[in-house]
Amino acid sequence: MKSQFIGIATLAAALAACATPAPTADEAALAAEGRKIALGMQQNLAGKLFAEIGKSGPAGAIGVCKTMAPEASAEFSRSSGWRVTRVSLKVRNPVLGMPDAWEQAALLDFDSRAAAGADAATLERAEVVREPQGRYFRYMKALPVQALCVNCHGAADKLPAAVKAQLATTYPHDRATGYSPGQIRGAISLKRPLD
Ligand code: HEC
Repeated sequence: MKSQFIGIATLAAALAACATPAPTADEAALAAEGRKIALGMQQNLAGKLFAEIGKSGPAGAIGVCKTMAPEASAEFSRSSGWRVTRVSLKVRNPVLGMPDAWEQAALLDFDSRAAAGADAATLERAEVVREPQGRYFRYMKALPVQALCVNCHGAADKLPAAVKAQLATTYPHDRATGYSPGQIRGAISLKRPLD
C-alpha cells in the first residue's frame, strides 16, 4: 500500500513539473525585465493620472487618459523593444484593451487567485508562448483597483455626474465600471519575439 501511495505521489509531482517547467535562467531574466517595464508603465500612468485629477478633476482627466494611456504604451514599446499594452476582461476602449486568448486565461487566473485571497498587486505571469508566427516571451502584471481608480471605474450609479456624462459620449460601449478597491481592473501585458 505504502509503495503504491509513494508511486502516485511521485507521478503527481512529475505531472505538475511537466505542466509548469521551472524557468531557465534566460526566462527568469526576461521575466525580471518585463516586470521592470510593467512597473515603470504602471507608475508613469498613476503619476500622470494623479496630477491631472488634482488639476482638472476626474471628468477633466478622462480626456487626458484617452490620449495619455495609448501614448505611454507607444513610448514604452519604442524604448523597450517589447510590445506594451493594457488589457482587461471588461474594456472601456475595445480598440486597445481587448485581451487575446493567452491574456484572457491569465486575467481569469488572476481573478480567481485574488478571490482566493492573494494580494492583487503581486500577481503576474511570465511564459514562453509558441504562436503561429514563432516563439514569444510574454509577461503580464495585474493592475489592482485603488481608491483613485474608483473615480472612473467604480459603481456606475456612484460615479460623479460629470464623469458619467463624459464617459457616455466618449465611450458609449464602456464596460469598465462596477469595480471596488482590491479587485483587478486589468493588466499590463508585454510581448517580445524570441527568435
Ligand atoms: C480620470 C478617469 C480614470 C481614472 C481615475 C482611471 N481610469 Fe482607467 N481608464 C480611463 C479611460 C478614459 C480609459 C480608456 C483609455 C483609452 O481610451 O485607451 C481607461 C482604461 C483603462 C484600462 C485599459 C483597458 C480598458 O478598459 O480599456 C485599464 C487597465 C485601466 N483603465 C486601469 C485603471 C486603473 C488600475 C486605475 C487606477 C490606478 C484607473 N484605470 C484609473 C479612465 C480612468
